[in-house]
Amino acid sequence: MANSQEPEERVRELLSQLTLDEKISLLAGQDFWSLPAIERLGIPSLKMSDGPTGLRSTNSEPSTVFPVGVALAATWDRSLLHTVGSAIGREAIAHGVDVLLAPGVNIQRTPLGGRNFEYYSEDPMLTAEMGVAYVDGVQSQGVGTSVKHYVANNQEHNRMSGSSNLNERVLREIYLAAFEPIIKRARPWTVMSAYNQVNGVFASEHDELLNTVLKDEWGFDGIVVSDWGAAKSTAGSANGGLDLEMPGPARMYGEELRKAVDAGQVSETVIDDHALRVLRLIGRTGLLSGNPKTTRGALMTPEHREIARRSAADAMVLLKNEMGLLPLKAAGSVAVIGTLADYPAIQGGGSSQVSPDRIVTPLEGLRDALSPDTAIHFERGVDPEPRAPVLDGRLLSPGGGSNVPGLKAKYYAAPDCLGDVVSEAVDWRFAKLGFGEAAQDKNGAFSVEWTGEFTPRHSGEHSWQISHSNPDAELIIGDEVLVGPETDRVTELLFMILPLNQRNATVTLEAGKSYPITIRYSQPGGIKGFNIFNVYLREPAPDRTAAIEAAKQADTAVVVVGSGTTSETEGEDRASMALSDAQNALVEDVLAANPNTIVVVNTGGPVEMPWADRAPAIVQMWLPGGEGGHGLADVLTGKVNPSGKLPVTFPKRYADNPTYLHFPGGQDVDYGEGLFVGYRHYDAAGVDPLFPFGHGLSYTQFTYGALNGPASAQAGSAMTVSIEITNAGDTHGAETVQLYVEDLAMQETKPARQLRGFEKIDLAAGETKTVTFDLNARAFAWWDRNGGGWTVTPGRYRLHAAASSRDLRQSLDIELTE
Ligand code: BGC
Repeated sequence: MANSQEPEERVRELLSQLTLDEKISLLAGQDFWSLPAIERLGIPSLKMSDGPTGLRSTNSEPSTVFPVGVALAATWDRSLLHTVGSAIGREAIAHGVDVLLAPGVNIQRTPLGGRNFEYYSEDPMLTAEMGVAYVDGVQSQGVGTSVKHYVANNQEHNRMSGSSNLNERVLREIYLAAFEPIIKRARPWTVMSAYNQVNGVFASEHDELLNTVLKDEWGFDGIVVSDWGAAKSTAGSANGGLDLEMPGPARMYGEELRKAVDAGQVSETVIDDHALRVLRLIGRTGLLSGNPKTTRGALMTPEHREIARRSAADAMVLLKNEMGLLPLKAAGSVAVIGTLADYPAIQGGGSSQVSPDRIVTPLEGLRDALSPDTAIHFERGVDPEPRAPVLDGRLLSPGGGSNVPGLKAKYYAAPDCLGDVVSEAVDWRFAKLGFGEAAQDKNGAFSVEWTGEFTPRHSGEHSWQISHSNPDAELIIGDEVLVGPETDRVTELLFMILPLNQRNATVTLEAGKSYPITIRYSQPGGIKGFNIFNVYLREPAPDRTAAIEAAKQADTAVVVVGSGTTSETEGEDRASMALSDAQNALVEDVLAANPNTIVVVNTGGPVEMPWADRAPAIVQMWLPGGEGGHGLADVLTGKVNPSGKLPVTFPKRYADNPTYLHFPGGQDVDYGEGLFVGYRHYDAAGVDPLFPFGHGLSYTQFTYGALNGPASAQAGSAMTVSIEITNAGDTHGAETVQLYVEDLAMQETKPARQLRGFEKIDLAAGETKTVTFDLNARAFAWWDRNGGGWTVTPGRYRLHAAASSRDLRQSLDIELTE
C-alpha cells in the first residue's frame, strides 16, 4: 500500500463538505482521461492512462515498452513482475498519471482471444499471482492500478454487448479466481468493469458481482470504473455498484444521475458511497497533500531498459532444443531470415499500445551479441503481414543532413497549418492513439505537418495507407499527392466504437533514393485527447529464393516468424491459429536447406507449427517489448539461460482447443467447456498438446527429490509440503517448480489436475535448494453452487511436483479427513 494515503477521517470530512452536485460531478470524467477538480475544496483533477505494457501517454509521447502480459507471465517470476510494475509506476509519475489502467487479468479462454497478449494465462492461479505482484509494484510508487476487465471478458467478438454465460461454479473457480487474490492481497485502488454482460446483465451494473462479491464479500474499498463507454444505464449502474463513469463528459451519470436522485431512483446514501470511494482514491494518489511523489518519476532510463531487456529474456520459452543447437556458438556464419527479424512485433494493438522509445530488433540484438566473430547475413524471406505495418521510422529523415530517424513535425493551434507554430519536434512514430493535446485549442482544433525525406530500402511498389479520426489528412511524396482531399475513403469502426477514415495509395519508388515527403493532419475541433493517426506502408515483396540460398550457405539459420505487427489487437479476435502459408513454407524450405535451423516465434499466443517435428530448435519470443531483440540474443547466445515456461497451452491444431465448439458465439457466448479451460481440458480429455502448459526447457537439467509432506490432514486445514531440486547440469539456471493437485476420488466433476502452487528458484551448477509450498483450504476446494460455497471434500488427493502440466516428476498422496 502506498505511503501517500490520506487518513480516512480526512476523506470523510471532505465528503461532508461536498454538495450533492459536487459529489455527482466526481462520479464521471471531465474528459477522456481525467476527473474534474473541485477547486473550492482544494481537490485537484486526477489523471488516468493505459497500461499494461508500459505507460501509454495520452499524447503519444514515448515510454519504455515492456514485454506484454502473457510474456511476463511466462517468467513465472513474482519478483520480476513487481520490478516491472514499479518501473511502470515511475513512468506513470513522469507522465503525470495517477492511475494506471492495468493489469489485465482476464483468463485466456480461447487461443484466438484478440487481447490474450495483454492477459497473463489460461490458469487463474498463475494469473492472480502475476497480478498481485504487478499491482504491488505499481502501487508501491504511489500510483494506482485498475485491475481489468471485471469479469468474463474473454473475447473481442461482440465485445461491447455480448453476454458471457456461465454457471456460478465456473465463474468462481476460473474467472473470479483470477481477481479474488489480487483484490484481497494487493488491494488495488480501482477495478475496471467489463464491456460485456455476464449471464444477461451488463458487468458495469451487475449488483451481484460488483456489490455483493467484490465490495461486500472481498472487502474492496476502491472504485469500480467503467471500461471506456461501458456504462449503459443511470440508476441501474449507480445502484449496481459502478462508482465512476469513463470517459467523460458524463453520458449516464452527471445530469442524468442528478435526475435519478431527484426522482428517488437512486438514494443519496448510494451517491455518498460512490463519492467517498472516489475521494479515497484521490487521497491515495497523494493529490490532496500536494502530490509529493513527482520527484520519483523516471522515464526511459537505462535502468528501465535493463528491466525490459531482462524480462524479455526471462520470458522467452525454449520449446525445443535438439542436437545441442542452442546456445549459438559464436564464430562461423548465421543466416537471419524473416521480415520480423528486422521489424518485429514488440507489442499488441489497441489501448495498451505504447509509443516506443526505441525498438531493438532481433537482427540488431544478434549483431550486437555475435559480430564481429560471426558473419551475419539477413534476408526477409516472405512478407508476414496480413495488413500493412506501421511506417518504419528508420526510412525517414528530417533532412538537412541529419542522421536521426524521423520527420520534422510542426504543430499549429488551428486547422490547416495556419497561424503560428506552437511546437516542433522530430518524430518517427506513426501509430498515434491520442496526440496533439498540447496544441489543441479549447475546441479541440489543431493541425500538424511533418516534412523530411523518405528513402526506400527496396525498389518497387510501395502501398501506403493512412487512417485518421479527423476529417482529412494528406500524404505527398516527391511532387505527387498520394493522399489528399480527392482520395477515396472507407470509414471503419476502430475497436467497434470510433469511426476511422482509411485511405490508400500506391507508388513505385527506387531503393536508396531520397524523396521529399510531407504528411499533414488537420483537425477542425473535437474531443481533447482523443485523436488517432496512423501511417502504414507495405514495402515491395521480399526475395524468397535469396533467403533459402542464404540459409544453405550459413552454418546456422535463425528464422523468425509470427502473426505480423498488426493482427494481435484489441477490438478483434485473431482470425486463425495458423501462420500464413507463405511463412510455413519458408520454414520448411529453410529447414530443408539447413538442418541447423532455429525457429523463433514472434507472437503473443500459440500458433500451429506443422514443421515442429522437423525443427531442431524452437524459441517462443512472444511480443517482447522494445528491448526484445537484446532479450532474444541473450537467450540464443546463452548469456541468459532460458527459464520461461508456457502460461498457456500450445495445442497441435486449433480444433483441439476446449472452446472450439463454443467460440465466438453470437450475442450469447455459452462457456460450454465449463471448468475445462486450457490444460484442464487437454488433461481431462487426454488430448496431447503440441507444447503443454508449464513447459519450457533450459540449457541445464534439474532433478526433483522426493515430495515431502503429511500423509493425512484434516479437510480445510493448511499444510506445507517441500521438495529438493538440484541443478544437475554444468550451467547456472532457474527452474519453476509447479505443484498440481489431483482429487483421486472425484466425487464431484473436476479437472484432472489443477495448479495450486509454483516457485521459481535460481540454482548454480550442482546446487540443491529446498522449495516449500504452503497449501491452504482453497487448494483443495471447489465451489458448491447448491449453497455450500467453497467446500473441501474429504478423501484421497495426490499432489504432483512437476516441471510442466505434463511432466509430473514426484507425487505425494494425502488423505483429507472429516
Ligand atoms: C479498453 C480498456 C482501456 C480503455 C481506455 C478500452 O477500450 O477496453 O482496457 O483501459 O479503453 O483506453
